Amino acid sequence: AVQIKPLVAGNWKMNGLKAALGEFSKLCEHASADLAAATDLMICPPATLLGAMAASAQETAISVGGQDCHMAEKGAHTGDISAEMLADSGAVAVIVGHSERRADHGETDDTVAAKAQAAWRAGLGAIICVGETEAERKAGKAIEVVSGQLAGSVPVGATADNTVIAYEPVWAIGTGLTPTAEDVREMHESIRKTLAARFKEHGEGMRILYGGSVKPANAAELLAVPNVNGALVGGASLKADDFLGIAAAY
Ligand code: G3P
Repeated sequence: AVQIKPLVAGNWKMNGLKAALGEFSKLCEHASADLAAATDLMICPPATLLGAMAASAQETAISVGGQDCHMAEKGAHTGDISAEMLADSGAVAVIVGHSERRADHGETDDTVAAKAQAAWRAGLGAIICVGETEAERKAGKAIEVVSGQLAGSVPVGATADNTVIAYEPVWAIGTGLTPTAEDVREMHESIRKTLAARFKEHGEGMRILYGGSVKPANAAELLAVPNVNGALVGGASLKADDFLGIAAAY
């Protein structure tokens, strides 16, 4: 099988004032070379903290990413941030299509695909999120929904280097609920097959992260599941110790 280096990424969402930079510095200090050799580590802070964090993460094992970008390079889009601006601030990647963006801002698969292309244009990796709602899972449609999102949200040109897929079941985000290991196994296997069929060896090597209520206490079980190549962590990424505890599960 292809060797895939895992990625543990933290999504701070709309959390963090300047005072939180101290917690981030602690994370940078405590992320050992051994840990970083085994696992790539990234924090995606609010855009207001990106530049400061990128500066303080220099020469450490931590990289920083954005949480969203506009599809255009520049122009009359008040309040929006381009992928080029994120790159200019020190980001190496950007999350696109998070379910909160899809729900709160009406982002469609087409929007998400355009944002992934914008990320690549700026030299950033795209962390493309997919995941079913509770109603969709209860209706037995989880695999079908996620396959459809992959088909629509992951553009032609995705490679193992420029793209990471994050499977985040909507009902597991911020709820403390997680799917069973068997449900995660089934979904990640289906995602792998879909990616491999479309992107060949790049699909075989693309990282597929699990996200949704990952904590130090459940990380080992979730990250041991085949085709789970890391985690996208929300709440537990805000504390350096929790984030490092999750990363240490590998
Ligand atoms: O993007 C990560 C996220 O949606 C998961 O959030 O707080 O359940 O870890 P949380």
